[in-house]
Amino acid sequence: MIRPLILFLFLTSFPVHAAVPKMDTFITQLMAKMTLEEKIGQMEQYTAEMAVTGNSIKGDYRDEIIKGRVGSILNAHGAKFTRELQKIAVENTRLKIPLIFGYDVIHGFKTIFPIPLGESSSWDLKLMEKSARLAANEAAAEGVHWTFAPMVDIARDPRWGRIAEGAGEDPWLGSRIAEARVRGFQGDVPGAQDRVLACVKHFAAYGAPIAGRDYNSVDMSERELRETYLPPYAAAINAGAATVMTSFNDIAGVPSTANEWLLTDLLRRQWKFKGFVVTDYTAVNELIQHGVAADEKQATQLAVRAGVDLEMQGGLFTKNVPALIKEHKLNRALIDKSVRRILEAKYKLGLFNDPYRFSDEQRAQPIVMARDKMEHAREVARRSIVLLKNSRSLLPLKRASTIALIGPFVDNQRDVIGNWSAAGDWKKAVSLAVGINAARAGQGKIVTAQGAELVDSKGSTDALINEAVTKAKNADVVVLALGEPEWMSGEAASRTRVRVPENQQALLRALHATGKPIVLVLFNGRPLALELENEMADAIVETWFLGTQSGHAIADVLFGDYNPAGKLTVTFPVNEGQIPIYYATKLTGRPFNAKSKYTSKYLDASNEPLFPFGWGLSYTNFTYSSVQLSRDRLRPGQKLKVSVTVTNSGARDGEETVQFYIHDLVASVSRPVKQLRSFAKIFLKKGESREVAFELSLEDLKFYNQAMKWTTEPGRFKVMAGGNSRDLKEASFTLIN
Ligand code: GLC
Repeated sequence: MIRPLILFLFLTSFPVHAAVPKMDTFITQLMAKMTLEEKIGQMEQYTAEMAVTGNSIKGDYRDEIIKGRVGSILNAHGAKFTRELQKIAVENTRLKIPLIFGYDVIHGFKTIFPIPLGESSSWDLKLMEKSARLAANEAAAEGVHWTFAPMVDIARDPRWGRIAEGAGEDPWLGSRIAEARVRGFQGDVPGAQDRVLACVKHFAAYGAPIAGRDYNSVDMSERELRETYLPPYAAAINAGAATVMTSFNDIAGVPSTANEWLLTDLLRRQWKFKGFVVTDYTAVNELIQHGVAADEKQATQLAVRAGVDLEMQGGLFTKNVPALIKEHKLNRALIDKSVRRILEAKYKLGLFNDPYRFSDEQRAQPIVMARDKMEHAREVARRSIVLLKNSRSLLPLKRASTIALIGPFVDNQRDVIGNWSAAGDWKKAVSLAVGINAARAGQGKIVTAQGAELVDSKGSTDALINEAVTKAKNADVVVLALGEPEWMSGEAASRTRVRVPENQQALLRALHATGKPIVLVLFNGRPLALELENEMADAIVETWFLGTQSGHAIADVLFGDYNPAGKLTVTFPVNEGQIPIYYATKLTGRPFNAKSKYTSKYLDASNEPLFPFGWGLSYTNFTYSSVQLSRDRLRPGQKLKVSVTVTNSGARDGEETVQFYIHDLVASVSRPVKQLRSFAKIFLKKGESREVAFELSLEDLKFYNQAMKWTTEPGRFKVMAGGNSRDLKEASFTLIN
C-alpha cells in the first residue's frame, strides 16, 4: 500500500500547469478570438514622428492603431508618449492587444556612448556588454521595449558609411562582440523592466555592398558568406537575440526580405531561431524596385512566404494578405506562425499583464543620465580611443605648456555623439575644449581658433587659417581637432573619398608649415585614408565619435591621466585605391615580391595599409617572447596550449591586447594568411612580465572545404601572437588526422 501512496504524493507534488506552458495556452486562446484582419494587424509596424529613419511616413498611424491594424510602433519613446499610444491600443481596440515599441538604441539612449565601431576598439567585451545594459536601462525606463541593435554587419570597405555602426572587419571578434551586446541588451530574464529585446541586423551581409555604396547589391561565394559574413548573426542568435531584421540588399540577386533560403532554411531550420523577423524600413515595398516583384501584392506574397513576420512601415500586409489567402497564394498557417511569434514577444515582455509597465514617468527620472551612466560613458570613451602615432613621445602633453587648440571640432558637441544617437541630448555632450580646460586645472595656457569650417561650403577659408597660424606660432604645441561631420557616416552616407575634408587638410598644411609639433585628434565614423595626416602630424589620436563624455575622455588621454589601449578593429588604408583592404587576405599564387615584376602589387601604392587591424599604441612599450606550443603535433580531441610572455618594457603601467592568429598553410581551399582566434587584455606594471596563453582546439581550425563541409584537414599550421595583426611572433604545428 505504501508504494502507490508514495507515487500519488510524488505525482501531485508537481503543479499541473507545468505540463502546458501558460504562454502557449494564453496565445492559443487569444488567437482563436482574432479575425484574419486582426492577425494581419499584428504583422504591421509604423513609425511615430519622433525620428525619421526612412522615406515614407504614414501620418494616420493612430487611426490604424484604433482599427486594430498595428502590432508595433517604432521611433516612439518617452514614458508619457508611449503610454499615450499604448492607451489607444489597449483601450480602443476589440481585443486590447498591446503594442511593442521599437527604437534604434544603437550606442546609448539618452546618455550616448561611443559609436559601435569606436567602442569595438576597446576589445573589452564586459565593457561593451555594460554599455548595452545601461542603454537598455535608460530606454526601458522611457517606454522602449525593443532596440534595433546590435548591428553586426561585417564591413571591409570604409566607403560604406554604416561601417560606423558595427564591430569592424573580423568575423571572430565581431561574433564575440555581438554576443556581448545581446547579453547586455536582454539580460538573462526575458521581459525584465530594465532590459529590452535585441534585434540582430541587418540580415544578411549588408556590409558588403558592391563599391561600398549603401543599399547596393551583395554578391559573393557561399564560402565567403558563411565564413566571413554570417558568423556574427549566428553568434547573436545563439546568445538569445529575440528578433532579426532583414537587410535592404540582395544577395546574388535575391533580396534578403524575399529570401526563403536565408529566412527559413538557414535561420529557422539550421539555426533553430524561434523569435520573430522584422523587415527593414519599407523593404517589402522595395522588392518591386529590386525587380523581383511585379507589384505590391507579389511583394507581399514573397516576403510572407520567405519568412517575414513583421513589416516595417510598408502597410502592404494589411492591403494584400486577405486576397492572397482567398486566392490560395498564401497559406493561412504562415500568418498564424508569424502572429504567434509576435504575441510571444509581447507576452514575455509582460505587456499582457501590464501594458504600461515600461511607461512610468516616475520610474524613469532617477535612471536617465544618472551617475552610473555618465561614469561609464567616460570610461568606455577613454577605452575606445586608439593612439595611431606618437613620434618623439610628443604625448602625453605637459599641463604647464601653451596649447593652441585648433579646428572645427574644438567646441563641437553635436557631431561628437555621432549618428544613430537615439534620444541623446547633444547639448549635454562635453566638447574637446571643455574637457581640456577641465583637465589642465588652471595650469599652462590654452589659445583656441576654429581654423576651418567642418565642411568648406563658402570657398577659401584663408582668414580662419591665418588666425589659426598666428595662434599656433605663439604656442608650444598644436592640438588639431579635425574630421568628418557625423552625417558623413551612418546610413545613406557612402563616400568615394574617405579623407578628412579638403578645407581641413588645407589648415593642416598651413599649421605644419609653422614647424610646431602637431597632435592630430580625429573625429570620424569610418577608417580614413590618412597619408597626408600621417606625414604632417607628430601624433594621431583616433577618437571616432565618443558620445556624451567625449571631451573628458580625450583630455584624459592627451594629458596621460589614462594610458590609451585601444586597438583598431578595421584596417586603415593608405588610399581609396586599396579598398577593400583587410588583414585576412589570401597569399595568391604570386604574392608580392619587390624583386619580381610578376607579383601581386600596385604600381602606385603599397599593398600594406597605413594602420593594420589590431593596431594601437600605448604610452609604454610591450615586448613579446617567442611563441611556445605545448605540442608540435595535434590530434583530434586534443588541445594545444599556445603561450607567449609579454613584458612592459616602458616607463609606465599600461594595458595591452594580446592577439592570437592562425594560418592553415595547405588545405583543399586556399586559406587566409591569418585569422584571429583569440585575444587577452592584460594590465602590466612597468617592468612586469606575464605569460599569456590560449587553448587552441580543432574548432579553431575549421573551414568550409571544397564540398562546403565545415571541417578540418590535416597538415601544417602557423600560430601567431602579437599586439597587432602585422608585428607577430610565430610557431608551427602539425594537425594529424
Ligand atoms: C533604417 C535602418 C535600420 C533601422 C530602421 C529603423 O532604415 O536601415 O538600421 O533600424 O530603419 O529605424
